Parts: sequence; C-alpha cells; structure tokens
Amino acid sequence: MKISFAEPALPDKGAVVVLVAEGRKLSPAAKDLDGKAKGAVTRAIKASRFEGEKGQSLEIVAPAGTALDRAILAGIGKDFGELEQQALGGNAVGKLISSGSAAATVIVDTGARDLAAAAANVALGAQLASYRFDRYRTKEEKKDKPTLKSVTVCVAGAAKARRAWGPMGKVADGVFFTRDLVSEPGNVIYPESLAAEARTLTKLGVGVEVFDVKKMEKLGMGALLGVGQGSAHDSRMVVMRWDGAAKAKKAVAFVGKGVTFDSGGISIKPGPGMEEMKWDMGGAGTVIGLMKALAGRKARVNAVGLVGLVENMPDGKAQRPGDIVKSMSGQTIEIHNTDAEGRLVLADVLWYCQDRFKPQFIVDLATLTGAIVVSLGNEHAGLFSNDDKLAEKLTAAGLATGEKVWRMPLDEAYDKLIKTDAADMKNIGGRGAGSITAAQFLQRFVNKTPWAHLDIAGVAWSKDAKPTAPKGATGFGVRLLDRFAADNYEK
Ligand code: BES
Ligand code: MN
Ligand code: ZN
Repeated sequence: MKISFAEPALPDKGAVVVLVAEGRKLSPAAKDLDGKAKGAVTRAIKASRFEGEKGQSLEIVAPAGTALDRAILAGIGKDFGELEQQALGGNAVGKLISSGSAAATVIVDTGARDLAAAAANVALGAQLASYRFDRYRTKEEKKDKPTLKSVTVCVAGAAKARRAWGPMGKVADGVFFTRDLVSEPGNVIYPESLAAEARTLTKLGVGVEVFDVKKMEKLGMGALLGVGQGSAHDSRMVVMRWDGAAKAKKAVAFVGKGVTFDSGGISIKPGPGMEEMKWDMGGAGTVIGLMKALAGRKARVNAVGLVGLVENMPDGKAQRPGDIVKSMSGQTIEIHNTDAEGRLVLADVLWYCQDRFKPQFIVDLATLTGAIVVSLGNEHAGLFSNDDKLAEKLTAAGLATGEKVWRMPLDEAYDKLIKTDAADMKNIGGRGAGSITAAQFLQRFVNKTPWAHLDIAGVAWSKDAKPTAPKGATGFGVRLLDRFAADNYEK
C-alpha cells in the first residue's frame, strides 16, 4: 500500500477519515466536512452511540453534498498517544481495505502536541494493518479482495511528518519481511531457502555469511546438528552483520531459533495443530526482519544477527531419545525428548555468538515452549535475563511499541531440574516450569555475556486480527527490538 503525506484539505473523492475527541468534539476537518455535507456528520453522530472514545468509529456512506465514497469518524478519546495513533491508522485501514474505496485520506489535525509525529504514527499503523499473505489464494472471493491502494495522511507540516515516516517505513518493511517468512509453509521455507532469503539483505549493505553442515561440524556444533540429522534438508546457520557505527564499537547481538518445521522428531507431536509448526522459525524470522529494519533505516549501531536453521523430522537417521550430543561449548547433553529441539539449536548459536563477537549483550528470540502460552497467553512474550538493566530496557521498549514482554524468573533451583547422570545436562526438566527450565538450559551457553531470552511462542502468530497486525504472522519483536536499539544503543 502506498503512503503519502499532504497538508490538511478535505479530499473530493475516495474515503476520508476525520478525528473526533471524547464528548463528540469534532476536529477542524470534521467540522469542515459537516458543513460541506449539510450537517450529515452531526446528524450521524446524534443517531448513533458514537462518543469519540478511542477505538470507536462511525461510517457515513456517500455523505450528501460531497462526491466521497464514505467518511469515517474516528474516536481519539482523551489521550491520543503513540500507540493510539497507530491503532487509529490500523483500524481505519481494517475498515477500508475491502470496502470498495481505492484511496483514503486521514486528516490529523487535533489531539496531539506534535501533529507531524502523530501523522507518521497513523501512517505506520495504516501500513502495518494493510499486510496480507495471499500468494497462494488463487480463487479468492471477489468480496474479500482488497480495494484500498493508497493512504494519504494530511497534517500541517507534512514535510516534517514525511521525514519522521522515513525510518518508520523501513521498520514496517522489516515487519513485512518477517511476516512473509513466517507465513510461508515448510515446503517452501527450509534451512537452505531461509538462508537464501537472509542473503537478500546484502542489497541493503548487510554482510551475510552462511554456514553449511561441514562448517558447523568443524566448529563442533553437535547440539544443533543433532536436531537436523533426521531431515532431508541440511541445516544451516546464518550470520548477518550491520555495521552502522564506528568500528571500535562492540556489537549488539540478536539470535533466533529457526526450526523451519517442528514435527517433534522421534518424540513426534500429535497430529492436530501440527501444521502450526511451520512457524517454529519465528525467532529467526524476527531476527532477519530486524536486520532488514536496522539496515533499511541505516541505524547507527553495530548489530549482528545469528539464526540457527534446522528442520526437526523423524527418520531412520533422526536423533533418538537417550542420545548424548556434544555442544560447541564442550558441554554434553542427553536428549530426553527430541521435541525440545529449539534449545539445542540455540545452545550452539548462542555459544558461537558470544565466542566470536564478544557482544555488548545477546537477545535471543524463540518459539521455545508451549508452557509460555499457558503462563502468559497471547499478550506478552516471556522475558528471561541474567541482567536487570537489559531486562528493564526491553520491558520499556515493549511498552513503547505495544509488543509487550513479561519477566519470568531464573534461579539455581530451576537449573537443578535439568541435571542428569549420563551427561552434563538433559534437554528437558520435569512437569513444572517448562519455560523456565528451557531458559535455564540456554543460560548455560551464554557464558558471562549479558543476555535476555524472549519466548515468543504465544505472540509470533495470532488467531485474530489486532489493529496493527492482521491475523497470522505478527512480526512480533521487530518493532520492539528496533526501538530497544534506537533508544539505548544509537546515541
Ligand atoms: N516449538 C515448540 C514450542 C511451541 C509450542 C511453539 C506451541 C508454539 C506453539 C517446541 O519445540 C516444543 O515442542 N516444546 C515442547 C517442549 C517439551 C517437549 C519439553 C513443548 O512446549 O511441549
Ligand atoms: Mn519441539
Ligand atoms: Zn520447536
């Protein structure tokens, strides 16, 4: 969808969105429209329960005295902050995308001190809501086809809004890339093809290195390789580098779990819902989309993104429960359940990351445990960290972007739960605290590096639409970590 900015003016065609504050207080543009439309706005409000509360909207089709398709009155409530501005843009697009209108104009002329910034946020929400993954729908019902092609955001000081939008549009590109990668099925996205997608970032100036099985064998990555050995698709690890700051500056590091399909392996998963495990590469998808965002907006930071890519399949060559593997760190792991594979992949990638880059910190993302969905549902990602400052910064970035995280505990007592007689550790704990024992496992591979782990199993995919994320792949984490980097590491 095309986004543009212009000075405030009522359009004479298409759809228009005007703002109304709580208590039915019309914005200047809403008043203007009311005048042109012979009082249709005031009458429509009177005839409805629309109060101008945030999230509320009222549609007037073909308002009298105008050639408009429709006008939408959008409530801004009392405090029209960043997230409300984005939600307003998103809700408007949600209403208009298959409405029949091809062009929409949103007039941002009230509710915020910095209207240009508000307009850019409205644009971001609009763009994020316009995402669709419909590559494989060949017989779409005509009534479902999107009609909306462009959104113009009108604001006094359009040039300033356009400048603010520049980097935000690049972040939206990163989110879309993640959503695409996560939505693609397992027969299209497998380790080699996902590595090829990551490679496309070289166009943006990202350095991309792909490690094949031989190279990983040389490094001693027995934990990662064990997971992939039952698949017809060979495993890969991808290292991406964006150098946006001075050479001497230590890198910030992001690591993602990229299980392109998780059947569970020999500890095979039950059939119902298994198709969802195509998005078990969500952590990797986010790291790749994040690198795209950072490079796209030329972030002044040195960032590395590492993803471990495997397919977890049952086969004659597959890893067995009871097998003992040796990780790159030298630590040995007894496999008690081949479905607890994400931590095995991350073990080697985390170790490699801290060993090679000595980064300021590592944040990893993984659709790691079903247990985190039991704990936090679909509202927060689980956050685990060995560093309070890092945890605080991530929490703040979560609140600022609406991609919220909730801190969970780490503790010596939980670490004991992954002890075993035959090796240094086993890959599952007991029945309780499944997300925590998984995080304790990861912690054994970060050495002393400040580290945070985001368990995104509950938030990488959504069964229902949100204002700025249609249902399906959400791209969770791209905006969170982009903001986290911008607010803390680019000054
Ligand atoms: N990829 C799954 C976790 C998952 C479950 C993600 C549901 C999204 C939705 C992970 O590899 C897994 O299978 N974890 C097991 C761990 C168990 C065997 C200790 C789980 O959560 O059941
Ligand atoms: Mn699994
Ligand atoms: Zn998995």
